[in-house]
Amino acid sequence: MKSYIFVFCLLLSLTTGQNASGESFHIPINPGRGNWTAAYAKAREFVCQLTLTEKINFTTSTGAGSTTGYDIGIVPRLGFRGFARSDGPVGVRGTDYNNAFPAGLNVAATWDRELMYTQGHAIGMEQKGKGFNMALAPVVSPMGRNPTGGRNFEAYSPDPYLSAAAFSLAVAGMQDAGAIAVGKHFLLYEQERFRYPGNDYGIPDPDNVTMPYSANCDDRTLHELYLLPWYDAVRSGLAGVMCSYNQLNNSQACQNTRLLNDILKGQLGFPGLVLSDYGSQYSGVLSALSGLDQATPGDALHYSPNPEPGISYWGPNLTISVLNGSVPEWRIDDMVTRVMAAYYFLGQDHNYPELNAGGGFQTYGYMYPSAMLDYTQINFHVDVRDHHAGIIRKVGADSVILLKNVHATLPLKPEKIKQIGIIGQDAGPSAQGPNGYADRAGDSGTLAMGWGSGTANFPYLVDPLAAIQARALRDQTVVQYVLNNSAADAIDAIAEQASACLVFANADSGESYVSVAGVYGDRNNLTLWGDGDALIKEVAANCSNTIVVIHATGPVLMEEWIDHPNVTAVLFAGLPGQESGSSLVDVLYGDVNPSGKLPWTIAKNEKDYGTPIIPYPSGPTPQVNFTEGLFIDYRHFDKDGIAPRFEFGFGMSYTSFKYSNLVISGPSNSYSVGRPSPTRTVNGSVCASRKLNPSDYTFPATVSSITHYIYPYIASNATISTPGVPTATASIVAVQPPAPPGGDSSLYDILYTVSVDVTNNGSVAGQEVAQLYLDLGNGEPPRQLRGFNKMMIQPGETKTMVFELKRRDLSIWDVVSQAWVDVTSIGTTVGVHVGPSSRNLPLEGKIPGM
Ligand SMILES: *[C@@H]1O[C@H](CO)[C@@H](O)[C@H](O)[C@H]1NC(C)=O
Ligand SMILES: *[C@@H]1O[C@H](CO)[C@@H](O)[C@H](O)[C@H]1NC(C)=O
Ligand SMILES: *[C@@H]1O[C@H](CO)[C@@H](O)[C@H](O)[C@H]1NC(C)=O
Ligand SMILES: *[C@@H]1O[C@H](CO)[C@@H](O)[C@H](O)[C@H]1NC(C)=O
Ligand SMILES: *[C@@H]1O[C@H](CO)[C@@H](O)[C@H](O)[C@H]1NC(C)=O
Ligand SMILES: *[C@@H]1O[C@H](CO)[C@@H](O)[C@H](O)[C@H]1NC(C)=O
Ligand SMILES: *[C@@H]1O[C@H](CO)[C@@H](O)[C@H](O)[C@H]1NC(C)=O
Ligand SMILES: *[C@@H]1O[C@H](CO)[C@@H](O)[C@H](O)[C@H]1NC(C)=O
Ligand SMILES: *[C@@H]1O[C@H](CO)[C@@H](O)[C@H](O)[C@H]1NC(C)=O
Ligand SMILES: *[C@@H]1O[C@H](CO)[C@@H](O)[C@H](O)[C@H]1NC(C)=O
Ligand SMILES: *[C@@H]1O[C@H](CO)[C@@H](O)[C@H](O)[C@H]1NC(C)=O
Ligand SMILES: *[C@@H]1O[C@H](CO)[C@@H](O)[C@H](O)[C@H]1NC(C)=O
Repeated sequence: MKSYIFVFCLLLSLTTGQNASGESFHIPINPGRGNWTAAYAKAREFVCQLTLTEKINFTTSTGAGSTTGYDIGIVPRLGFRGFARSDGPVGVRGTDYNNAFPAGLNVAATWDRELMYTQGHAIGMEQKGKGFNMALAPVVSPMGRNPTGGRNFEAYSPDPYLSAAAFSLAVAGMQDAGAIAVGKHFLLYEQERFRYPGNDYGIPDPDNVTMPYSANCDDRTLHELYLLPWYDAVRSGLAGVMCSYNQLNNSQACQNTRLLNDILKGQLGFPGLVLSDYGSQYSGVLSALSGLDQATPGDALHYSPNPEPGISYWGPNLTISVLNGSVPEWRIDDMVTRVMAAYYFLGQDHNYPELNAGGGFQTYGYMYPSAMLDYTQINFHVDVRDHHAGIIRKVGADSVILLKNVHATLPLKPEKIKQIGIIGQDAGPSAQGPNGYADRAGDSGTLAMGWGSGTANFPYLVDPLAAIQARALRDQTVVQYVLNNSAADAIDAIAEQASACLVFANADSGESYVSVAGVYGDRNNLTLWGDGDALIKEVAANCSNTIVVIHATGPVLMEEWIDHPNVTAVLFAGLPGQESGSSLVDVLYGDVNPSGKLPWTIAKNEKDYGTPIIPYPSGPTPQVNFTEGLFIDYRHFDKDGIAPRFEFGFGMSYTSFKYSNLVISGPSNSYSVGRPSPTRTVNGSVCASRKLNPSDYTFPATVSSITHYIYPYIASNATISTPGVPTATASIVAVQPPAPPGGDSSLYDILYTVSVDVTNNGSVAGQEVAQLYLDLGNGEPPRQLRGFNKMMIQPGETKTMVFELKRRDLSIWDVVSQAWVDVTSIGTTVGVHVGPSSRNLPLEGKIPGM
């Protein structure tokens, strides 16, 4: 068994790791990183030097396509070069000499906290190496309310606890590398369909939709499900948040004061900046007062009917809004303070690399593309890949989920396998090459990434066929293959000869600005693409040892073949990134014992999930009612007693584990009845107010303006109404960092520890993910994940796994007191269940109510 075990102690002395060759490498921790108090002090000092137009430069990007360089926060007078940002969750987007990492779904499927951190760190290093100050990642929403959600794969899991771990560790990793993590999308962005008007969603009369859909969700569900991961990420230092395209309760996410001011900046104590998704800003004054801090890309892309580049809700309009009194200047100070606090918090004032990439693969291009100005070198092709391929391969292998394995089919035993047949388009390379479709919007060849903005260019892609052939050659195994799913005769011929038939199929999805084969972002159904079910059945009819490998962006239906006696093994490999084939071979041949577990449920029927995407608009603003409340994914299956095909948390190993000896200790802390969330302080100016004279804000004669480029200056003939009382009555959060990040710190007090013994009673070493679920009563879901632990256990060895239960883990959100209430403090006895999956929980205990 290859040993990839990282030798660091997580978060404490995370300085060395091992790459695929088992050699150590250094994981540098950002040396300049500070704390929020210190960062705020520095930021305030900086902000107080600025003029109003300089401040406005920090709030508004210079426009879509305006520049390939820095596009926000440029202050020539102080030599401050500004900020550059890039997607995304699987690595730096749209450039070269970067790595293409596994999707969030694979990271979640590892259930491995070290890997969650390590992948985040590696991506952060690559962003920093290219000179991007902000990484528009990681992604935690969509969480996966709808199993067909197009972008679910970018995020982790519909379980908030697993999501919280993956999200907050990715944030910690990226930010320890020095990049500002911008977590997205805030919030309830659960479907692609109708996320903004004017898109083709494959429906008649798409123009009947005039506003983004509204996700309507009650307060308890919001806190316990969709908001939970954000608490942990803010507590881990999350410095940026991207507000989403959709509306909540019919108020746009980027101008929803309840969401941004009260909840995010108030209850969660978020000290960083909120920036808009690309065109999710729908107002000027209102978004400023409601908590938006940066407008991206600056242009208001929603001016109907024709979006005009260079026209902005902010920029000059924000300057005017201050001059006419609609936006108090201290709110502008607050915006800039939050941006600069993030900058100092991450230590970006210490030798942060200069931007060296932009505009794709080409070396030369326009610095100002939409004005076609300044043709110059825009890409310096800096190689930031380092030794991250080892991490990619390990995340890929450790996220493979073994769903079926009869007759000890896997691992493959080369001495027994004389000939391998490899079947299916998904097994091999695409004739277009790995980067042949823009933003990966195409499905040919093996699927290793979904499509949309959550993509990166592949530096190479090891497809399964290449990797299996290379391995099989070592063993003198004969390999035949057919990559054409329709070539039935050729498939039958090799299936009949092979001693093991590996059949590959996939299901793709992505972001809705582009469609693939009639899929407009969200999947239309959970069926495999390319007639995958028929392909698998064709192979199984002719081969008594059929091994199915699935690459997909989420769950797929398997009913047509899962019980077929000739289907001897099934592997779900997700979207593994550039090392796809290598990771798979590690598992197929047993160099890595599979340890991935499902981060969602695989149902027998799509309707069993109970949360379909609304296919047609219910009106000009489609209404998406989250009436199921807390009951999504396994919570729903458990409550309604629906048998899934494979339950949440399920995944097999080449060995077997026995659970014993559950011990609960505690309470280790005094109980406190739920405290209300921290209150917000509403505050005035932090800097001395200065004279507001409109002529000070017009375009300086020395600057020649670039077409379609947004500046902070107002037109010399602009009408400024008399400064008056602000017109909107939104509540506003103060400039001070609301302490402490993550909300009331007593939520994180450890009240109980639970320990269990896990014994490897098989014959090979393997990692096991033990899972702890609580039953909190009070109408809560019967089982809720509240702990997991992954350990490598040798044959015959027993390891004790310890779970820590925080006060929040035992709490529900009480909407009346607006506080987390520990249910044991109100007399509820809590059920504790531990085991290898959400439906296999052999150990039980109780935490008594008080
Ligand atoms: C944070 O920074 C402030 C100001 O520099 C300092 O007084 C404080 O001790 C620091 N806190 C921690 C936890 O390091
Ligand atoms: C604002 O930024 C632009 C570049 O985007 C720069 O040309 C201009 O000088 C800046 N304005 C101020 C007042 O610093
Ligand atoms: C779109 O609106 C028009 C005019 O109100 C109506 O006739 C048509 O049925 C609508 N189409 C759909 C798909 O709702
Ligand atoms: C949305 O409306 C529901 C029902 O009125 C309410 O419980 C919830 O707090 C609202 N959420 C937001 C973010 O306004
Ligand atoms: C200011 O906003 C208005 C809409 O409120 C828009 O029509 C106008 O073009 C904007 N001005 C600039 C300079 O972008
Ligand atoms: C102030 O200016 C902004 C931006 O142009 C505008 O939307 C707002 O209505 C103005 N307020 C007043 C009181 O005129
Ligand atoms: C592993 O790291 C060592 C030391 O940094 C390096 O020499 C070696 O090339 C790396 N191997 C791989 C496969 O990345
Ligand atoms: C795939 O096989 C089918 C059936 O034999 C054939 O019609 C088709 O041309 C083949 N496709 C390619 C790309 O060779
Ligand atoms: C699933 O959706 C695809 C389009 O994405 C369609 O071709 C196929 O017929 C659908 N299958 C089922 C079983 O509905
Ligand atoms: C299983 O495969 C064998 C060929 O090895 C075939 O004869 C048999 O019919 C297959 N079984 C089924 C149920 O298709
Ligand atoms: C959503 O809920 C609202 C308020 O209860 C209701 O009026 C509307 O019909 C619902 N919409 C859909 C599509 O279910
Ligand atoms: C201001 O002047 C510009 C030309 O410089 C003109 O296009 C615009 O209509 C004028 N606006 C007002 C409000 O007079």
